[in-house]
Amino acid sequence: MKIGIDQIGLATPAFYLDLVELAKARGDDPDKYTIGIGQDEQAVAPSSQDVVTLGASAADFLSQADRDELGLIVVGTETGVDASKASALYIHALLGLNPWCRAIEIKEACYGGTAALMMARDYVAAHPTKKALVIAADIARYGLNSGGEVTQGAGAIAMLITAQPRLLAIHDDAVVKSGSIMDFWRPVYTDLAIAKGKYSTEQYLAFFQATWQRYSAETGHGVGDFEALCFHLPYTKMGLKALKTVLPEVDEPKQAALMANFEASCRYSRRIGNIYTGSLYLGLLSLLESNPHLQAGALIGLFSYGSGAVGEFFSAEVQPEFNEQLHPAAHQQRLTSRRRLSVAEYEAVFADKVPYAAADYHADPAYFAGSFVLTDVIGQQRQYRRL
Ligand code: COA
Repeated sequence: MKIGIDQIGLATPAFYLDLVELAKARGDDPDKYTIGIGQDEQAVAPSSQDVVTLGASAADFLSQADRDELGLIVVGTETGVDASKASALYIHALLGLNPWCRAIEIKEACYGGTAALMMARDYVAAHPTKKALVIAADIARYGLNSGGEVTQGAGAIAMLITAQPRLLAIHDDAVVKSGSIMDFWRPVYTDLAIAKGKYSTEQYLAFFQATWQRYSAETGHGVGDFEALCFHLPYTKMGLKALKTVLPEVDEPKQAALMANFEASCRYSRRIGNIYTGSLYLGLLSLLESNPHLQAGALIGLFSYGSGAVGEFFSAEVQPEFNEQLHPAAHQQRLTSRRRLSVAEYEAVFADKVPYAAADYHADPAYFAGSFVLTDVIGQQRQYRRL
């Protein structure tokens, strides 16, 4: 029985920052951002957007039948809105999902989306008539003027996992490696991540090499068997560094084909930035919607990495009806219709955040946009509504 992604949805805030403008404001060469790091634009989330509103928006494609057949909803995130209650429950309410399902949140840095996907795959394998909703949602914040500022971003990917999926079958061939390291983390008192940038880059590459080599030995697959390789993209240059470590394993025409598909997988990330748990799947969506030559049966390799750290390599196969499951024009339109913020506006939006404090809070209605918003926090309870 095939199990995998039947539908996929994308949400990102309605505001963005041009990274050439940010480079100029920070006294950096814009080429460092657009070429050296590989990012052009960055989604900016006002305080009325969080992983609940973005996650619910990304999953708004669900039909009534899908909603009724859900037995599991898992949110993978490292920017949860509560240390106890799962964001999946807020999303469950906003989307009007049936009560007879498990609604939980799962965490392991940027790997959380893949952990959720694999849990959903196992769930459907055990309950083939049921469906599972996976949401990978995050807001990446490193701080104004910080080294990681250029690699911020915000957004969510939602995936409906079913038997006989129409988009992608996820193979049961994953190789996963875990080991406790301190390359990136976020203590609970702050909304700003701490990243040892160079060290996390080295560890990402080491985990990729380790999982890829073991995967290749276990399955017999070589790089040449894959139509495309998708990577977790904290910034697109990171994925490029990983791809370049395996390109010498194939001839030049195949290298060129893999590079072209890698560039197709980077298009959305270049405009949205890092969405942590969702970044690998944003890259996958970008590949599927940007390469008109992709054929059913194509084998795609996926590398997931979450600092801390867990790395996983697995494969997926494009299904015959995949084209009907994609919405490239709508996603392009969503990106092009965003409002560009000046650096000064971005800095003001960045500073206006839900405080780590008991006082009531009211989000600025001037930035209410998207399908769902957080309007207030009253009596330490978050208030959401559909726009
Ligand atoms: N033109 C073109 N390229 C330029 C350039 C210019 N004018 N100036 C610098 N570059 C290149 C550098 O050569 C380097 O490329 P390389 O990595 O291929 O060697 C790249 O731009 C970045 O420059 P660097 O000096 O290393 O940048 P930095 O010290 O500001 O750090 C990050 C960059 C990405 C490490 C930093 O933004 C960061 O820590 N981000 C968060 C890290 C993260 O997301 N970690 C999680 C990983 S899972």
